[in-house]
Amino acid sequence: MSTITVTPLGFAAGAQVTGIDLSKPLSELQQRQINKAWLEHIVLVFPGQELTPAQQIAFTGSFGTLDQHGSQAPTTLHPEHREILVLSNKVVNGKKSGTYNSGRNWHTDLSYTTRPAKGAVIHCKEKPPVGGDTMWANLYLALETLSPTIRKLLDGLEAVHDVTLVQGIELRAPEVVAEMKKRTPPVVHPVVRTHPETGRKSLLVNQRIRRFVGMSDEESQSLLAMLNTHATSPEFVYRHRWSLGDVVMWDNRCSCHVALGDFDQTKPRVMFRCSLEGEVESGRLTNDIGGTDRQTMLQAVAAVS
Ligand code: SIN
Repeated sequence: MSTITVTPLGFAAGAQVTGIDLSKPLSELQQRQINKAWLEHIVLVFPGQELTPAQQIAFTGSFGTLDQHGSQAPTTLHPEHREILVLSNKVVNGKKSGTYNSGRNWHTDLSYTTRPAKGAVIHCKEKPPVGGDTMWANLYLALETLSPTIRKLLDGLEAVHDVTLVQGIELRAPEVVAEMKKRTPPVVHPVVRTHPETGRKSLLVNQRIRRFVGMSDEESQSLLAMLNTHATSPEFVYRHRWSLGDVVMWDNRCSCHVALGDFDQTKPRVMFRCSLEGEVESGRLTNDIGGTDRQTMLQAVAAVS
């Protein structure tokens, strides 16, 4: 059996893993080596893999429980394997795929549900000649590099995550959007979360947050803009330029990512994605998505003074 080699690709995240054929069942040692590298580098790239859907599912299942994609419209799933979400920009029978513009703003998978994903494994099946890259941000570093004063403010703070903030959702087929909204009402998560395996804290912010609990809309938007800009600054990001056959596995418990639309949309880009269920239910449903605006607060002050 060949030896696994792990070569870092970036300072904040990313490592290439060679010396392994993911179409074969993993030995216990290989599983442990990959898990260790995953925890350390957050994003692992396995180049040149040839995998059937069943083999991709088996590999992903070595690291947890496969998500059955209950929050996704059934038409976006692989017809024979519902564990595989098909990320495709292809037009079939005159209709755009329900995932043709998926992942276009910074997000942590399924943060708009009460149980964000543990991680995901993507296999690159078709790619445009240039562009269509994906970027990941290391949210441990994002938290750890904030000032103690801001960290104190964030301790105990909660945010409302909302599926309707998925960028470009309004351009998708109405039935796909209706299905997503029905399946995923807004949820509240703590802004600082602890990784269940490493015990390290990270910042759960992204562009699918509507507001912070207990803040006015103006306060929320200013703080959110600052945190998102900080969290996704180049120092914390690994950018992946895809090659056919790449398998990329990321730890969703301490990262966010974005799929860039920087390519000729007439060229196919197709990725098969398996996701791992989150280990913990860290969020709660909320009906309260509206914050208090500045005007209402001024009126409240006027009424008591
Ligand atoms: C996603 O999972 O958000 C999309 C990733 C990609 O298509 O590169």
